[in-house]
Amino acid sequence: MLFSRGSKSSVGLDIGANSIKIVKLDHTKSGYSVAAIGIRELPPEAIVADEIRDREAVIFNIQSLIDQTDPRIKEVVISISGHGIMTDRFTIDKKTGAEAEQAILFETEQRAPFDVDDVSLDYHIIKVDEDINKMDVLLVAARKEFLQSQLELVEDCGLKPVIVDDDALAIYNAYENNYEIDPSKVTALVNIGHDVTNVTYLVEGLYHSTRDVSAGTRDIYNAIQKEFRLNPELTSKAIKGEMQDSVDQDMLKATIVSATDELISGVELAFSYFKSQSKVDGIDWIVLSGGGSLVPYLPELIQSKLNIPLEIANPLRRVDYDPELFQYLQPEKIAPLLTVPIGLAMRKVR
Ligand SMILES: Nc1ncnc2c1ncn2[C@@H]1O[C@H](COP(=O)(O)OP(=O)(O)OP(=O)(O)O)[C@@H](O)[C@H]1O
Ligand SMILES: [Mg+2]
Repeated sequence: MLFSRGSKSSVGLDIGANSIKIVKLDHTKSGYSVAAIGIRELPPEAIVADEIRDREAVIFNIQSLIDQTDPRIKEVVISISGHGIMTDRFTIDKKTGAEAEQAILFETEQRAPFDVDDVSLDYHIIKVDEDINKMDVLLVAARKEFLQSQLELVEDCGLKPVIVDDDALAIYNAYENNYEIDPSKVTALVNIGHDVTNVTYLVEGLYHSTRDVSAGTRDIYNAIQKEFRLNPELTSKAIKGEMQDSVDQDMLKATIVSATDELISGVELAFSYFKSQSKVDGIDWIVLSGGGSLVPYLPELIQSKLNIPLEIANPLRRVDYDPELFQYLQPEKIAPLLTVPIGLAMRKVR
């Protein structure tokens, strides 16, 4: 075709409690390349956990972000997380096509803690074991009401949601496309957001399961605001380590350390639950992402409290980009914050 661009693109839109993030990736023959990126912070209480408290402000900020990033963007891949979505994993006899779907639906009805009529279901076959003729199924169930309200929000911004994903699966997708997964290591992908921390486990080189911890960096944000009596704008600068001249760094460190109890004990609890449920001895490796991985002192603190080696994710590791697109941001520094939208934009839309 004469005017073919030779590449297709997908746009990942991540509506977080602290900021909205957008990444447009061109899907080329050789891989992915960043076509546009944008981040915009929301007013402090516009979204709390997964509840949208100020719909107008959220819509206004999404539209402004699109205008300033690439006004041609219409189709977006979005994700939902938290209470609106549940994942489960089970093993059934190997089947294909309609038979597989029926078996999965039957199994879901047996075990689901919700009414199957209230949810939209999707599933992925994680692994097929030919020797014993069984397959492992990952079930994703989204509450219809929650899903509908997220879709309406995005449509009210003048956008078209083409794929709805789950935060944890987007994080896994971003990791899988950037790293060689070592099958001998049990890895925990820990994405620290403002209100939610998604923990996703990889076992034997494959997705194993995921768990949301209801804590993030908001406690740190609030503690800094209170301790240093800052307005939201300056608090947000201080938590990014951008106030080194006017904020005492020892006091900042002490404030951050004192505000992480809930987050760290939430992750510890998730880890011990995982160890008791799965047949693994321990977690070998943490890969940290989300805004929390950029908060000063926090990664070191997590590593020392949990006593597990830790690495900060770079979801742009195997992605091409022009640093100019990031304007005043340093791509390799900001990349962990963009893990979810990058994972979303790695989905093939057509
Ligand atoms: N450049 C940065 N340096 C340090 N911290 C940052 C930076 N950018 C954002 N943060 C902090 O990261 C936190 C937000 O992380 P993130 O953007 O992953 O959350 P979110 O997606 O908005 O929230 P959630 O996923 O819980 O809905 C905020 O506390 C914010 O101040
Ligand atoms: Mg987030």
